[in-house]
Amino acid sequence: MEFHLKSIDPAKRRSQCTLIGVFEKQPLSGTAKALDTASKKLISSLKSKGDFTGKLGETLVIHHPQHLPCKRLLLVGCGDRKELTMQQYRKALIAGFTALKTTGASDALCALLDVPVAGCDDAWKIRQAVELLDDAFYLFTELKSNNNQHVAPLENMTFVTDCSDDKLIKQGQAIALGMRTAKDLANLPANICTPDYLATQAKALAKKSVKVTTEILSEEEMEKLGMHSLLSVTRGSDKPAKLISIQYQGADEADKPIVLVGKGVTFDAGGISIKPAQGMEDMKFDMCGAAAVLGTITAVIKLKLPINVVVLIPTTENLLGGSASKPGDVVKSMSGQTIEILNTDAEGRLILCDALTYAKRFKPDTVIDIATLTGACVIALGNQACGLFSNNDSLADALVAAGTSSGDRAWRLPIWEEYQDQINSTVADMANVGSRAASSITAACFLARFTKQYRWAHIDIAGTAYRSGEEKGATGRGVPLLMHYLIARSQ
Ligand code: BES
Ligand code: MN
Ligand code: ZN
Repeated sequence: MEFHLKSIDPAKRRSQCTLIGVFEKQPLSGTAKALDTASKKLISSLKSKGDFTGKLGETLVIHHPQHLPCKRLLLVGCGDRKELTMQQYRKALIAGFTALKTTGASDALCALLDVPVAGCDDAWKIRQAVELLDDAFYLFTELKSNNNQHVAPLENMTFVTDCSDDKLIKQGQAIALGMRTAKDLANLPANICTPDYLATQAKALAKKSVKVTTEILSEEEMEKLGMHSLLSVTRGSDKPAKLISIQYQGADEADKPIVLVGKGVTFDAGGISIKPAQGMEDMKFDMCGAAAVLGTITAVIKLKLPINVVVLIPTTENLLGGSASKPGDVVKSMSGQTIEILNTDAEGRLILCDALTYAKRFKPDTVIDIATLTGACVIALGNQACGLFSNNDSLADALVAAGTSSGDRAWRLPIWEEYQDQINSTVADMANVGSRAASSITAACFLARFTKQYRWAHIDIAGTAYRSGEEKGATGRGVPLLMHYLIARSQ
């Protein structure tokens, strides 16, 4: 798909489909008014007859509108406010692009940038539009033998705007590519997307750029490093665990890197503390943290960002083989701290803690881990916000800001010392679970015991990384948030 920025008059420009915004209560304005005049009141008569109200997210495709140069006119409802919030604008774009997909148009003109959004300029709107357009056209059909539910490809999208900064398109496209990469990986079932598969993908990345090197640590090497916490999780599986590390050098060697750690549990059955059967198939998505960091580094490479980034992915299955860890087992982590495994289903923190200790060898400026870590995060924040935890206020603020600007929002929760008592153990330095109370927080508090020596944040994407039910599929969430943070850091 190609994107163009053009300062043109939509009333005079040919297209297979022209998208315009129409408000509910306000009189027609901007492009809508101009096209209404050119079409001899087509839009206002539809509104007065009640055939199109302009309610937020409502759409109407008008075929062969008279007196207009477009084959189809796509009206997008923008609600009853003169100025939209960022979320309302995103909702309108998603509705518009979803309707555009059904038209089969191969080129389109998007005149939705003249819709005012509180605190946002055209630059923000362009990046959002590129990302949301790509998302709306995304389909995962790799595993269908009868692959005919394809969407007619949109080849050209022109945005009507006075802004001519092509960098915005490049950024939007890179983020969209990163999200696509994350979604493709996460949508694969666990019999295909194994720890070994993730390692192969990581190695393939390294081939794409001279700035990238990849290293895969085997179980033997992890054993030597003393990563017994990570290794305790893979004992119930026949497939070997891996620790994937990808180094991207976009800046001076002396520049301290930002380390991104992604949870890569390719299937989480819960281990001996087995999960209920209902919905267990969704636990193929327990590698969405890994998918998010792989998508992010793909976008970083594409944009050639002038920063140093290290990606670490501890990856394993959490199954119930004869050698699986048992409740009550005690293991020693790479940090030297001992852990009593009270629940084998709290495996994410067991693999992350060793990866977080390993991160120290890169002398990081900042470490951010991202993981589908706790069901409790879904209870607390639902599918809207990612959970955010940090030992550093300015890092937390920067990540919240990146979430807001990208539309991939995060909400900070506390990791006060007082919560630490909940994971005390009678036999080891700590237990891997506390009570049910505040269990997203105690999971983060567990990780905090391994991240004292650097600036660190933890992002829980259990509620945002995928959708279940009829619209089941990975969302690519995490990539926009991390990319907005990294783009800001590279300026
Ligand atoms: N992968 C799960 C968390 C999860 C749950 C992600 C639902 C997405 C949707 C994690 O490994 C897990 O099992 N966590 C347990 C922790 C508990 C045993 C303390 C949980 O959240 O129930
Ligand atoms: Mn689990
Ligand atoms: Zn898990």
